[in-house]
Amino acid sequence: MEFKRIGVLGAGNIGTGVITDLVLHGISVVVVDISEEILQRAQTDVLNNIRFVPLLSKTLPRITKEEVGTRMALTTDLRDIASCDFVIENVTENWEVKKQLYENLEQVIPPEVCFGANTSCIPITQIGSATKRPENVVGIHLMNPVYLKPTVEVIRGFHTSDRAVDTLLQLFSQLNKEAIIIDDMPGFVSNRISHLFMNEAAFVLQDRVASAEQIDTIFKKCFGHKMGPLETADLIGLDTVVRSLDVLYESFQDPKYRCCPLLRKLVHAGHLGRKTGKGFFVYPEG
Ligand SMILES: NC(=O)c1ccc[n+]([C@@H]2O[C@H](COP(=O)([O-])OP(=O)(O)OC[C@H]3O[C@@H](n4cnc5c(N)ncnc54)[C@H](O)[C@@H]3O)[C@@H](O)[C@H]2O)c1
Repeated sequence: MEFKRIGVLGAGNIGTGVITDLVLHGISVVVVDISEEILQRAQTDVLNNIRFVPLLSKTLPRITKEEVGTRMALTTDLRDIASCDFVIENVTENWEVKKQLYENLEQVIPPEVCFGANTSCIPITQIGSATKRPENVVGIHLMNPVYLKPTVEVIRGFHTSDRAVDTLLQLFSQLNKEAIIIDDMPGFVSNRISHLFMNEAAFVLQDRVASAEQIDTIFKKCFGHKMGPLETADLIGLDTVVRSLDVLYESFQDPKYRCCPLLRKLVHAGHLGRKTGKGFFVYPEG
């Protein structure tokens, strides 16, 4: 299957990475978000990403600003994705928001179109329960920055069909991405483990055992990790990390996932990480 046009729902942190990856590979996108302002900001972010691609990757295609313009349509009206071949959903990690969206989605897209549900922790079987076509829903856990990551966790929900998985794998082959297909459980593999790690690093900081810089340096220099746990949380977005921990806590009913109060405090203070310029660390503009 040759993908001509893909619907991208949610143009936030991860959505802009998804859009960048698709337009780089010659696929047109219809981007849906809730306001014109967010859509305009997403367009600016995508153009910035495209500008830096030659510095960051030797293999990704080089495209012009004009090509981005012809491949990217922006809208706040969900009905505009009616003619898309596939839909990638990246809206806020909040069950009520996702549930409402999936209920509306099936009113506008043909029954054969499959959806890639991009979530950090919400089970794909649960997302499938919000539609009358759970067989069309396949989970994707894309990591940031999406266009630079060659491997993706793909999750089979209880009802996910082979057709939905195959469709997604065809898309990933067009994007030169490898998939690791796993079973459905809250947090999947990566976030079930990594959120414990980021949360505990926040507790260590809260307990004043070490500074944020020291905590991350230990992981980078002693373990050889590319990024420390706090920098990783800043990259994901602290609001998304907190929501994911809440989903894990609720789903497993296990206190090991209780969210560190310092993490929640930073979110309430509006320090969401890289996307707001401040989180555990400070990021210069741009
Ligand atoms: N940030 C990461 O590194 C990361 C990694 C993997 C998966 N995810 C998952 O991807 C999803 C998005 O995460 P994010 O970090 O981009 O969040 P974000 O808060 O940066 O962006 C979410 C976007 O969804 C939009 N939105 C909300 N309701 C909508 C609706 N009804 N229709 C269209 N758009 C709507 C918001 O306006 C916002 O622009 C979440 O489920 C998250 O768990 C995030």
